[in-house]
Amino acid sequence: MSDYQIKSLANYKSTYQKSVAEPEAFWAAIAEDNFVWHKKWDKVLEWDFAKPEVKWFEGAQLNITENCIDRHLEKRGDKTAILFEPNNPNEAALHISYKELSNRVNRFANVLKSNGVGKGDRVCIYLPMIPELAVSVLACARIGAIHSVVFAGFSSTALATRINDSDCKMVITSDGSFRGDKTIDLKGIVDEALLECAVVETVLVAKRIDSNIQLKSGRDKWLQPELDAASPICAQEIMDAEDPLFILYTSGSTGMPKGMVHTTAGYMVYSAYTFKNVFQYEADDVYWCTADIGWITGHSYIVYGPLANGATTVMFEGTPSYPDCGRFWAIVEKHKVNQFYTAPTAIRALAKESLDNVKGYDLSSLKILGTVGEPINEEAWHWYNDHIGKKNCPIVDTWWQTETGGILISPIPNVTETKPTYATLPLPGIQPALFDKDGLELEGNKQEGSLCIKYPWPSIARTIWGNHDRYRETYFSAFPGNYFTGDGALRDENGLYRITGRVDDVIIVSGHNLGTAPIEDAIDEHPLVAESAIVGFPHDIKGSALYGYVTLKGEGLSKNEEDLKKEINQLIADLIGPIAKLDKIQFTNGLPKTRSGKIMRRILRKIACGEVDNLGDISTLLNPEVVASIKANVL
Ligand code: WT7
Repeated sequence: MSDYQIKSLANYKSTYQKSVAEPEAFWAAIAEDNFVWHKKWDKVLEWDFAKPEVKWFEGAQLNITENCIDRHLEKRGDKTAILFEPNNPNEAALHISYKELSNRVNRFANVLKSNGVGKGDRVCIYLPMIPELAVSVLACARIGAIHSVVFAGFSSTALATRINDSDCKMVITSDGSFRGDKTIDLKGIVDEALLECAVVETVLVAKRIDSNIQLKSGRDKWLQPELDAASPICAQEIMDAEDPLFILYTSGSTGMPKGMVHTTAGYMVYSAYTFKNVFQYEADDVYWCTADIGWITGHSYIVYGPLANGATTVMFEGTPSYPDCGRFWAIVEKHKVNQFYTAPTAIRALAKESLDNVKGYDLSSLKILGTVGEPINEEAWHWYNDHIGKKNCPIVDTWWQTETGGILISPIPNVTETKPTYATLPLPGIQPALFDKDGLELEGNKQEGSLCIKYPWPSIARTIWGNHDRYRETYFSAFPGNYFTGDGALRDENGLYRITGRVDDVIIVSGHNLGTAPIEDAIDEHPLVAESAIVGFPHDIKGSALYGYVTLKGEGLSKNEEDLKKEINQLIADLIGPIAKLDKIQFTNGLPKTRSGKIMRRILRKIACGEVDNLGDISTLLNPEVVASIKANVL
């Protein structure tokens, strides 16, 4: 393996230059030198954003599991590939070596085959964060089946919709899952979903919680006996570069989720390349991403990217607050974690708690910290930097999407600069552009507009499963010739990018464009504020005015509400300007969130606009119960 790690600023600059001037030569060299191919490509890239169509490395043949597992066996077969940390801190961690992973994946792949799954078939995986989840994903890839992982917090209705949309013939699940000191009956949820799914032939059930569930005869099978009977050798299916590797659903502006389709070669090359560079992974490092494999972050940066680099990747089954709010830091100390990657929502939740949860732990192994999923506010960024990184670890604020397959904009730690609340610079191969609402590109620095990408990168999603028209409409119609991200961004005087939030969250107040994220940042600076969300509501004079939902920290609850409102508006006036002051402030005991922790502003917007009876489906929220109290106290 030649070294594709960027190690200096000069190196970043020349690499970036080359990636833009000669993208095909650039990616061909990376692909050639760092991966195992059964046949080289005939053409590096074919693309047309008008159709839209993108193909990378066409003609090439490979298997991604050979790249993630087999090729490491000789040199680092005994190295830990997956380090499993259970929900219960008293249960032993599991160190799964590359050899052991190979054995498990091959057995599982043989079980898939003996149950009638073959190349191109879709398999729905609905599992908690246990080793079987990573293993089943890789087993599908081994035989060319297309995995569709559904986050095991989704409801039976959401699961059924996803199974049916892509006609999955098999579901892999468990008898249940642990969440803190509770258990969840996953199999019961699957049973309910399958009442609506005629296409499913087989359900494989892993045992995790030892519950007394019933297996439906002719359909359900315990996984372990099948694995025990299977051979540990399974020939890899040789895949074409553009064969689908997986489908992953993401929510859209309509109710129907979008099954984003990622293909084999380009996804592999890009997830591996960005993992190495964004986390500056070195041979003996222990890397931990706290996401769930049910999200793209887990696909690219727990499973495929780390394993393609021969890394040790931690898989954590539990939650940040069990048995107490020091759990993350206990795990960092226990496994001497070097790179730690989490979501701003987790950081804010932990920052709300006493620092005693952090103080007792030795965090000196940490070298690099990362965030993903939403803009990180300044206060949370500083808490992370001061108390976790001890001002010694660069923070990579990584911007990307389910659709992009890998990180597009991010600092490269110890190479490029960091700046709080900025994702900063595009990675090699990424050509961002900002557009105004008339569709004109905003050139030069100090600009703010809709964020697009002008040129394909290897891991861009190729289509929406079964709905290529929706793919074209959603991503390639607003700014013809460009991939439209749906996000707004600003480019500062030095060319650094800051993601300002979804473009649909922009609110025009008296003709001024206001992003929700900077206002929320300002509010969150208040020492008694835990979290906030801003939406617009119709206003006679201003067109739109601002409505703020604010959750207070414990100590804030005893304060006079009117005083607090004044202080919050003063902060906004000080940090942004009087134009961004809120017309209404409602104190809440929580904000409605998606399962991945993003605030559902759509629901808050409807409540603020008086459309309380028309909130749509809220059953997939993390905390649907907060909606009722927010509705009851609307101003
Ligand atoms: C949306 C994509 C990328 C994996 C997890 C989320 C927002 C993501 C950042 C960031 C500001 C961010 C964007 C993006 N987002 N990362 N570092 N700073 N915003 O994947 O569920 O597909 O969501 O998350 O709005 O469009 P996703």
